[in-house]
Amino acid sequence: MDRAKKPTAIGITSTPPQPTISLQNNIVQASLPTGESVTVNLYGATVTSWKTADGAEKLWLSDAAVLDGSKPIRGGIPVVFPVFGPPPQNHATTPLPQHGFARNSLWEFLGKSSSESSDRDNSGSDDAVKLDFGLATSNLTPEFRSKWGYEFGLVYSVTLSREGLGTSLQVQNQGKESFEFQVLLHTYFAIEDINSIRVKNLNGKTYIDKVQNASEHTESAPSIAFTSETDRVYKDLDPAVPLVISDNEKDLYSITREGLNDAVVWNPWIEKAKSMGDFSPDEGYKKMVCVEAGAVNGWQALEAGESWEGGQFIRV
Ligand code: BG6
Repeated sequence: MDRAKKPTAIGITSTPPQPTISLQNNIVQASLPTGESVTVNLYGATVTSWKTADGAEKLWLSDAAVLDGSKPIRGGIPVVFPVFGPPPQNHATTPLPQHGFARNSLWEFLGKSSSESSDRDNSGSDDAVKLDFGLATSNLTPEFRSKWGYEFGLVYSVTLSREGLGTSLQVQNQGKESFEFQVLLHTYFAIEDINSIRVKNLNGKTYIDKVQNASEHTESAPSIAFTSETDRVYKDLDPAVPLVISDNEKDLYSITREGLNDAVVWNPWIEKAKSMGDFSPDEGYKKMVCVEAGAVNGWQALEAGESWEGGQFIRV
């Protein structure tokens, strides 16, 4: 006989709703009782989806993104480490591919960290969940290990809360010699129409324009608009001043950073979007903008036994 009030889950009625977490086929998914969710692919520890409580997707992911680890994932939040862009000549990173190896290595899921999920609301339910991912020298393919021979450990933390999404990276030097690295959180933000998008709070800042032979400029516009391929590295920012992405004067995203004093602003526009085999649809460039918090101007030097940390927090 059917009971009218049959319990639907393991039921201790006094326990308030908790976040749910699953790991299946190298994909970690977490949701808050209030409806927010995040999906992280262990290939690259790439966040591939972040939804707010209303179910709205906040990250752009290419329809042709390759999710099996055979190439970096086009969209979401790829983690760039230990080099940004094409590696320079005569540097320890020279043999590595563009943007390093973190985004195409298989990370480990280290589990949910309880320390940060103690942020409780009045109902007593957890209103944040922090997922930790690890990548160390021992996780690298022999090819990557031979190309960058340092002993390192990375811990990448993805914190989902009602207020937004935080992603932060700890870099540990576990070896006996110092190494240099760069870091970038290559966030692809989902937007409605690139034509009405502006990026604010970069006025007066120095940037390297990668579409103008890496020439240096000072930003004179009160906000950045997009009318062609845009690929700029803004330097020496105050990480506490949020970078704000707005659409028709309405603020969509606000990004604060810690330890990440540079920011890349990127949109491939028409031709470059078409030329990337894993960028789909072609018109997708209208639906995304990358505002990438990083430490990419020069190098971070890490002595043996030391660690470094940097991260971003994105509010909607
Ligand atoms: C940006 C770079 O961070 O990433 C661009 O500034 C680059 O120059 C873009 O084109 C995408 O890189 P990739 O390797 O993912 O195609």
